[in-house]
Amino acid sequence: MFSPSKALGMPENYSQHGGQVDHMIDVVHYFMLALGIGWTIFFFYCSFRFWHRRNARASYHGVKNHISSHLEIGVVIVEAVLLLGFAFPLWAERVDSFDRVQADDPVRVRCIGYQFAWNYHYPGADGKFGRIDRSLVNKVGDPCIDPNDPNGFDDYESAVLKIPVGRPAILQITSTDVIHNFAIVPMRIQQDAMPGKDIPMWFTPLREMETSVVCAQLCGEGHANMVGTLQVISDKAYTKWADAQTTAALESNADKLTSN
Ligand code: CUA
Repeated sequence: MFSPSKALGMPENYSQHGGQVDHMIDVVHYFMLALGIGWTIFFFYCSFRFWHRRNARASYHGVKNHISSHLEIGVVIVEAVLLLGFAFPLWAERVDSFDRVQADDPVRVRCIGYQFAWNYHYPGADGKFGRIDRSLVNKVGDPCIDPNDPNGFDDYESAVLKIPVGRPAILQITSTDVIHNFAIVPMRIQQDAMPGKDIPMWFTPLREMETSVVCAQLCGEGHANMVGTLQVISDKAYTKWADAQTTAALESNADKLTSN
């Protein structure tokens, strides 16, 4: 069957939920096509029906039946069904899946946008981020980890987003300056990055790959250059990398560890 999302050049999907997004884009385009054809026919019908030579004298009564009122009520009912019957339940299902994904051994990463790049904050081996204190911000893209919180001693930063294949990833999106938007098109996911807030988004990558993270919110003169790298790697390679980063973080905090 003809797929508008493919015809319009959407890149290949590599996430578990992405097929549903593509399907929705297809359905919306079919509706738009139906509307476009309907209105075009109506336009030509009116052009012919109300042609000035066939209607030399204006009608002072106009339309006398109620078809247009009934059609408008019909449109309101269809739109109410779409919103209440489909859009709201789909959104509820998406929001509810956050509880399930949290029980599913996810990888957690904080993604910090700034003019004009992305920084990543990993929780280390304990899986817990250090306490976030945004008043401590002292550089662009600062994760703002409280240096005295033991949960943060094994936390580390990365300029590249690395996640393991086949495991859900929960990304907490934030910013240290203006509003950005963290978008990974091949994963069919994006989220606004708001200063002062960590907003979670989640997906499961299906294949090992390297792709781009882009900023999808006009945020200043360097907006178009705000391109980052996502590497989806094997679980083994990810564990090896994460262990090395954790060890390095613990070494740099060795003085704090002994004094605790
Ligand atoms: Cu950041 Cu556009």
